[in-house]
Amino acid sequence: MAKAEKRYVCQECGYISVRSLGRCPQCQAWNSMVEEVIVPETSAQKSGRPLALQSKPRRLREISGDMEERLRLPIEEFARVLGGGIVPGSIVLIGGDPGIGKSTLTLQMSIEMARLGTVLYVSGEESERQIKMRAVRLLRSEDGTPLEMPDNLFLVTETNLEAILQHVENTKPRLLIVDSIQTTTLPGMNSSAGSVSQVRECAARLRELAKSSGIAVFLIGHVTKDGAIAGPRVLEHIVDTVLYLEGDHFQAYRLLRSVKNRFGATSEVGVFAMGERGMEEVRNPSEAFLAERMANAPGSAIAVTMEGTRPILVEMQGLTSPTSFGNPRRTPNGVDFNRLLLVIAVLTRRVGLRLGEQDVFVNVVGGLKVTEPAADLAVAAAIASSVKDQPVRADVVLIGEIGLSGELRSVGQIETRLREAAKLGFKTAIVPRKMHRGLPWPEGIQVLEARSLHQALEIAFVEA
Ligand code: TYD
Ligand code: MG
Repeated sequence: MAKAEKRYVCQECGYISVRSLGRCPQCQAWNSMVEEVIVPETSAQKSGRPLALQSKPRRLREISGDMEERLRLPIEEFARVLGGGIVPGSIVLIGGDPGIGKSTLTLQMSIEMARLGTVLYVSGEESERQIKMRAVRLLRSEDGTPLEMPDNLFLVTETNLEAILQHVENTKPRLLIVDSIQTTTLPGMNSSAGSVSQVRECAARLRELAKSSGIAVFLIGHVTKDGAIAGPRVLEHIVDTVLYLEGDHFQAYRLLRSVKNRFGATSEVGVFAMGERGMEEVRNPSEAFLAERMANAPGSAIAVTMEGTRPILVEMQGLTSPTSFGNPRRTPNGVDFNRLLLVIAVLTRRVGLRLGEQDVFVNVVGGLKVTEPAADLAVAAAIASSVKDQPVRADVVLIGEIGLSGELRSVGQIETRLREAAKLGFKTAIVPRKMHRGLPWPEGIQVLEARSLHQALEIAFVEA
């Protein structure tokens, strides 16, 4: 047997070096190189004999191009993110922080899909009893009476990939869940569970399984602090679809977002609320996010943000209070820090608000993260409303990006936003000028155009 060689692999980006390095030359991460042993090639690979070919090129014309038949998934918020249902033979990665609800959501999916065919749920993290207990919680009707357990849902606690493949062989599922890819290992490899090579190799094997058998495979992956699927970004290239489950641990709402999808639109979003019976679908997120709003209270303004193709109304709250120690503080929750600084600077310089000696807090109600500049105007209005101690008109939504000269800049998909606002009973929208594209504005909402932030704020407030 050839002598096994060592190499060092960056756990962040997969860069390979023959020497151990303190810092990865490719992604500049510190202490990310981990030693791995290269398994010697097998004799068949070396002998130079021609391959026993299993694939065969076919004419494009002859390949049937019917839309992949999807398995209908009755959890609509989930199905929309997948692009309409589960594609047989596809491999999907669901990432998210620990404890955010990945296992819960996939178990719910497994329960639903077990009505259509066999489902195999492999867990390397929890015992069968733990999963059963969770299933019992999930399978209850609204008044708490237990529902019947599905017949075709199989559980197994296993981390060895070869054993998992054997179980697949034996149970012949239509859907396989692997929870999580970081706990799964190939015994032949000399690196520990969760390392780049293990994760990559295991995912590649599972991908092969999906493609050759038509089984839909869902992998669960943990996410590091900075939001990448732990270590190997390479994983994102192996799978067909990457979904992130995100949300604030202290809030009930969870967003399932597709960041890559070979079978549908990306940036689709599904909204759930973590409740007594697991992840409950939120069919009308705007209504949910506005439910606790106090109309006519100072420091609150309504923004319309786009989450994928979906408009969501959210309440922006602003609070200003005199600074007690030297530097004024700026504390955003749910909006970008730099965006907030920009809005405050424009409010100070172009609108003339005195924010230099004020601490400013901004909060997006419901734990949503709003990255869109289109929410600038609502953030500015919420802050201005708090400084002036004057409420923003209760029936107004504010849409627009703020430029450095204090101008309002146009935003995309304005009609969709306005329609959603009208649907929720808002009477007036303040939008940037020149957004009109010749089409009539959606019915039921009065659209007021403003050229600048200054102008927008003049019409936004309740007359004292
Ligand atoms: P889990 O699905 O285990 O998260 P992940 O797999 O992403 O690590 O979710 C765990 C959390 O969800 C835990 O804090 C308890 C909570 N939870 C509920 O609030 N309601 C429920 O019905 C269930 C099953 C879990
Ligand atoms: Mg889990």
